[in-house]
Amino acid sequence: MSPPAPAWPLPRVFAHRCGGALAPENTLAGLRIAAAMGCRAVEFDVMLSADGSPWLIHDETLERTTNGAGRVCETPDAVLQGLDAGSQQHRAYAGEPLPSLGDAAALCHELGLMANVEIKPATGFEAITGEVVARRISELWQGRPLPLVSSFSPAALEAARRAVPRLPLGTLWVHPPADWLHHFNALAAFSLHCAADKLEETVLDQARSRKIPVLCYTVNDRSAAETLLARGIRSVFSDRIDALRSL
Ligand code: G3P
Ligand code: MG
Repeated sequence: MSPPAPAWPLPRVFAHRCGGALAPENTLAGLRIAAAMGCRAVEFDVMLSADGSPWLIHDETLERTTNGAGRVCETPDAVLQGLDAGSQQHRAYAGEPLPSLGDAAALCHELGLMANVEIKPATGFEAITGEVVARRISELWQGRPLPLVSSFSPAALEAARRAVPRLPLGTLWVHPPADWLHHFNALAAFSLHCAADKLEETVLDQARSRKIPVLCYTVNDRSAAETLLARGIRSVFSDRIDALRSL
């Protein structure tokens, strides 16, 4: 099976968690800032609520980034809808809502942003999260180039692949293991994503010789980004989209 490719070219910079460090993470405010800063692509994290709906949030619990408490997977949509996801970062963002995947998709379309949706399953919900997020993406991006979908969870990616076979997938690792290519091929993935400081030259060589795009997180220094791009890394995820502007 040959990997499905996104119908869009990979930009050099993805704003990490929507707008990087310039806005509260995984918020619509972040998407607006990313677009205003000239970013063409964003990455965000998606997890299921107690009702099985996809929402943008990084942690399994609500405390760090919202005014809520408890596990996302045990919290109903009606509660998530009323949370403040902005004031933990800065009071200027008080009242910034926690976005659903539908909210984020609509704003990406409006702003012309390409997306890397990172499936972030709560422990024990890996396969169902992959399946639900993939199906919802296919509805929300209908008639448009599909987003690139990644996850640290192989079970989530396998479920996403089964649910929507044409979805472009990125295998995401902190440190790619020796058998990363086996996982990549089994998923018919499109891209390899990993921590910038854990990318070994042997892995990069393997990817390069197979024309597999390599994307690295989280790169906040302009000269570090330039070095990575010169080594053949296709894109970096960054919190400092201001420092990496026009790269
Ligand atoms: O997808 C790249 C990056 O977002 C992975 O790390 O923890 O920020 O989701 P994390
Ligand atoms: Mg992420």
